[in-house]
Amino acid sequence: MSQLDLKYPAISDLRAKARRRMPKFAFEYVDSGTGTEAGVRSNRAGLDAVRFMPAILRGEVEPDLSCTLLGRDYAQPFGIAPVGMAGLIWPGAEATMAEGAKRNGLIYGQSTVAAARPEETGPIVGDLGWYQHYPVNDPAIRKDMLGRIKAAGWGALVVTVDVPGESRRERQRRANISMPPVITPGMVADMVMHPEWSLGHAKRGMPRMRFVEDYTAALNEDGFTHAGKIIRGSPGWDYIEGCRVEWDGPLIVKGVAEAEDADRLLGMGVDAIWVSNHSGRQFEGGPAAIDTLPPVVEAVAGRAPVLFCSGISGGLDILRAIALGADHVFLGKAWYFALGALGGKGIDHLAYVLRADMTSCMTQIGAGSLAEVKGRLMER
Ligand SMILES: Cc1cc2nc3c(=O)[nH]c(=O)nc-3n(C[C@H](O)[C@H](O)[C@H](O)COP(=O)(O)O)c2cc1C
Repeated sequence: MSQLDLKYPAISDLRAKARRRMPKFAFEYVDSGTGTEAGVRSNRAGLDAVRFMPAILRGEVEPDLSCTLLGRDYAQPFGIAPVGMAGLIWPGAEATMAEGAKRNGLIYGQSTVAAARPEETGPIVGDLGWYQHYPVNDPAIRKDMLGRIKAAGWGALVVTVDVPGESRRERQRRANISMPPVITPGMVADMVMHPEWSLGHAKRGMPRMRFVEDYTAALNEDGFTHAGKIIRGSPGWDYIEGCRVEWDGPLIVKGVAEAEDADRLLGMGVDAIWVSNHSGRQFEGGPAAIDTLPPVVEAVAGRAPVLFCSGISGGLDILRAIALGADHVFLGKAWYFALGALGGKGIDHLAYVLRADMTSCMTQIGAGSLAEVKGRLMER
């Protein structure tokens, strides 16, 4: 057993360490839900309610975590969800995450509002990279953005549709996170207390939304006043049609919660459906994300892969989503806790922890493959 496994056996250990190494505003940005965080809690309660029957006297079980998604083989069924302004959470996060994804054979999602341009990280991660797209209000900007994403080698486009407007995220407000950012004396003091974070940023310059800025420079706006100017929160169905015409690779829609929507999206030529509630960051009054998965899986009926994220906090949760029909499972916050805690090797460590946890749980329920996991699910 490695020293790292003794010190950081779970995501909660990485979170605690990351919290100590980051200024409060950076930690609050990554960690917070919205409102009273009932959405975060119900995601957790929903996952806990999915149970498996342990198995006995099965002989030797050697769990195989491998899977296939959109024509590509993966050694494990989990990946890295897109996280906006990752470069604020930890200096250089986008490039470090892209390298870690490549080393571990994980899908890496990069956000529209990343601190790196698609051209910077695309060549690092290659077709394991999925670029996340927030709808924009100018068709010419969309066309240019998608063309650049394609030319930079990204393997799939993920259009996020569950951010129809700003969410209040009160914890972020209390931590003084505002757009455009205003640095208060308290924040400066906090940065001084976290030298690794601050020196990393001093070397690179403060993180900015580089990709979006390429389009807002013409509007003569600073990089942050920007996003509201070009990102159009709540487009209609025709937006997806437009993306389908302009993007000839795999097209994935993220933030789906209803069976009818999934069905309609497939009818429009979408290649995969991503069930998510943005980890309770947008709205706390909806269902637990995991409870929206089975109806979507039923509606999709094997016509396309179904992906899942929101609230996953270990290998057992990944198995829960797989048992309910997900083909691949993504984590957001956890990777950034790992990065904040341990730098690039945190990504390797978390990938190891998730694999080890899945292997251990599959052994308990006697499942030798991901396909067998469902068979041990208890009736809900
Ligand atoms: C700090 C932060 C920023 C995020 N930014 C984006 C984003 O720019 N685009 C997007 O589609 N999802 C974004 N998400 C949502 C994630 O892609 C994902 O749905 C969610 O984090 C998964 O839940 P988990 O963090 O509990 O694993 C963000 C999540 C976090 C925590």
